[in-house]
Amino acid sequence: MTERLDKLIASQGKLSRSDVKKMVKSSRVTVDGAVVKSADIKVDADKSVISVDGKALNYKKNIYIMLNKPQGVISASNDKTQKTVVDLVPPELYRDGLFPAGRLDGDTVGFVLITDDGDFAHRILSPKNHIMKTYHATLRSPLTEEDISAFKNGIELSDGTLCLEAEVRMLEKTDEPIAEVKICEGKYHQVKRMFAALGNKVLYLKRVRMGGLDLDESLEEGQCREITAEELLLLSEKN
Ligand code: URA
Repeated sequence: MTERLDKLIASQGKLSRSDVKKMVKSSRVTVDGAVVKSADIKVDADKSVISVDGKALNYKKNIYIMLNKPQGVISASNDKTQKTVVDLVPPELYRDGLFPAGRLDGDTVGFVLITDDGDFAHRILSPKNHIMKTYHATLRSPLTEEDISAFKNGIELSDGTLCLEAEVRMLEKTDEPIAEVKICEGKYHQVKRMFAALGNKVLYLKRVRMGGLDLDESLEEGQCREITAEELLLLSEKN
C-alpha cells in the first residue's frame, strides 16, 4: 500500500512530518537510491527502500512492546496527573497511537503489551480467542480443593457476574501462599474479585505471561523492550 512519504517516515516515531519536509528540502531523503524532491510523493514502504541521511529506514507498520509494569503506574495512554504505562516507553520505541492492550490495576505489576495495532490487541484480548493471561497471586490463605473446582466451574463474583472457566494451582504453600491463575477474560479487578468471592484476598498480583509468551524477567520493573516476530507468534498462542 502506498502512503505519503512524510507521513510514512513520521509514523516510525522519530521525526515529525515537518522535520521530514525540511530534510527532503535539503536532499537528505532517498527512495530506492534516488534523492527525493518532494515530501508528498506516494511510496510503498514494503517495496521501496527509504533512506534518511544514507541510513535505511527499518519500516514497521506496527510496533509491539513488552513492559514490566511497576506499581503506581496506570494502564492508559496519557493522563493529566498520573504516570501511564505509555510514559515508560523510551524515545527509541515511542510512536503516536501507542496504547496498552488491556489493563492492569495500578497496584498490579508485570507484563503489559503496548502497541499501536488495534486489531492485534482485540484478538489477544477477546475471550472468544482463548488466549490465557497468567498471573501469580500472593494470597491471604492457601487454596482449597473447593477453590480449584470453583475456578474450573466458573466463579460467580459478588455482583452476580459469571466468570468463564479458569485455571488455578498452588505454587507455594508458605506463610505467603502464591497461586498461579490463568484467565482468558479481563473483567475489572477480575482476579482480585474471583478470590474475594471465595472469601480469600489477593495481597500482591503480577502478570507473568500472555498467551505463550513469558514476561522477560531480565526487564527491571519500569523497563520495556520490543517483542520479536517469533515472540509475537507465542503471544497469540491459545493455551
Ligand atoms: N485482575 C485483577 O484483579 N487486577 C489486575 O490488574 C488484573 C487482573
